[in-house]
Amino acid sequence: MFIRSLLQAAALLPFLTTPTSAQTACNNSPSLCSRAYNNITHLGAHDSPFVRDKSTSFSTSGNQYYNSTVQLDAGVRLLSAQVHKNNSASGADKWRLCHSTCDLLDAGSLTNWLKEIKTWMDANKNEVVTVLIVNSDSAPASDIGAQFASSGIDSYAYTPPSTSVPKTWPTLQSLINNGTRLMTFVASLKETSPQYPYLMDEFTYVFENDFENESPTNYTCTPDRPTGLTTSSTGGRMFLMNHFLYSTALFGIQQPNSTYVNVTNAETGVGSLGARLDNCTGVYGRAAQFVLVDFFNVGPAMKSVDQANGVSGATGRKSVSTAQPDEGASGDDDESAAGRRDASVMAVVAAVVVAVAFGL
Ligand SMILES: *[C@@H]1O[C@H](CO)[C@@H](O)[C@H](O)[C@H]1NC(C)=O
Ligand SMILES: *[C@@H]1O[C@H](CO)[C@@H](O)[C@H](O)[C@H]1NC(C)=O
Ligand SMILES: *[C@@H]1O[C@H](CO)[C@@H](O)[C@H](O)[C@H]1NC(C)=O
Ligand SMILES: *[C@@H]1O[C@H](CO)[C@@H](O)[C@H](O)[C@H]1NC(C)=O
Ligand SMILES: *[C@@H]1O[C@H](CO)[C@@H](O)[C@H](O)[C@H]1NC(C)=O
Ligand SMILES: *[C@@H]1O[C@H](CO)[C@@H](O)[C@H](O)[C@H]1NC(C)=O
Ligand SMILES: *[C@@H]1O[C@H](CO)[C@@H](O)[C@H](O)[C@H]1NC(C)=O
Ligand SMILES: *[C@@H]1O[C@H](CO)[C@@H](O)[C@H](O)[C@H]1NC(C)=O
Repeated sequence: MFIRSLLQAAALLPFLTTPTSAQTACNNSPSLCSRAYNNITHLGAHDSPFVRDKSTSFSTSGNQYYNSTVQLDAGVRLLSAQVHKNNSASGADKWRLCHSTCDLLDAGSLTNWLKEIKTWMDANKNEVVTVLIVNSDSAPASDIGAQFASSGIDSYAYTPPSTSVPKTWPTLQSLINNGTRLMTFVASLKETSPQYPYLMDEFTYVFENDFENESPTNYTCTPDRPTGLTTSSTGGRMFLMNHFLYSTALFGIQQPNSTYVNVTNAETGVGSLGARLDNCTGVYGRAAQFVLVDFFNVGPAMKSVDQANGVSGATGRKSVSTAQPDEGASGDDDESAAGRRDASVMAVVAAVVVAVAFGL
């Protein structure tokens, strides 16, 4: 009896000696724990699951060089993805992660991607993560919610107190304490679902600047979506600053401009992330809550975000190379990858030509 109590007491010891929560980092820094969710600049990976690596034969449609797990490990805290409809499938599973069309780049089911994020959140308990679903083919909230439920990630989901913009959002620490560390926005939802109240209609809570930009001198801070807003009337919404460049390839297909991304994601210079963040902070009197970038590791984009948050000496991040894996590499593998790249673009072009010819 006595020995058992002794053992029980001994088992408690490690907990008694753990550091106090004041020293524990939230989203990689102790200084962020007491900050409201909307008083933090969150680094976002644009089209997070669409990866330009071996798994996609270095698809030119890929927006990131590393997958969502590596993104989170490196400090990315917002992941965006497009959901498209696969007409030949049925049920909630017909909604898949595809880039523009499922022929171009298919990154699998929404459920599997959410499972990957949940696995990471299970292992990283002091981190608040935001998922932004671009609802390209207008999936109903019930179908999207069903995939959140089947992935199990819904157990972390934060539900807003109402469907109007709150005056202030909870602090990271209170979201962590409550176990509601997942913020979920969907662009857009025709109607919210009482069964899945954590699916927040993006443009109710967030506004964005224009995202279709092809020139380093053409970025703006002006609200583009939802329509009808101006820089002086954004209705208390949070600001998501799109900061990536497209280039137009064959047949008008838009692709990420990867050759220029070292400038785009830099801290200083014309068209750099750092300079644009500063510019928009000047316009709104506070920093953007989210920045969305392509190829997040280049720059690295995280530097400008740490700067905006006043964070130095971040903890718990895994470092990732700032190089561009598909550029400047040599070897037989890359030659054949380039061949496959061209082949995949040609396949899409052929599909488009056929579709046009048959008036589809
Ligand atoms: C957070 O608050 C500080 C102090 O008011 C401000 O400088 C900063 O821009 C804010 N950041 C965001 C994302 O609101
Ligand atoms: C993500 O990428 C890393 C490194 O390339 C790899 O080890 C890991 O298995 C990948 N994870 C998933 C879920 O694909
Ligand atoms: C669409 O769904 C069908 C039936 O489940 C499946 O065989 C096919 O691979 C899917 N296609 C894409 C591009 O996801
Ligand atoms: C935490 O949960 C309690 C009890 O459900 C609730 O009253 C409170 O508003 C929650 N706080 C946040 C930040 O969500
Ligand atoms: C930049 O914006 C100007 C004015 O809107 C437009 O005329 C021009 O075509 C844009 N440049 C590029 C490369 O998109
Ligand atoms: C990427 O942007 C830079 C800067 O505008 C431009 O010089 C370059 O041609 C673009 N790359 C492609 C492939 O369009
Ligand atoms: C971007 O890369 C180009 C080509 O490698 C190089 O000339 C340029 O100095 C780089 N710029 C920055 C800001 O890193
Ligand atoms: C932001 O940039 C625009 C265009 O480059 C410029 O006209 C404006 O003065 C800048 N605003 C601030 C507050 O820096």
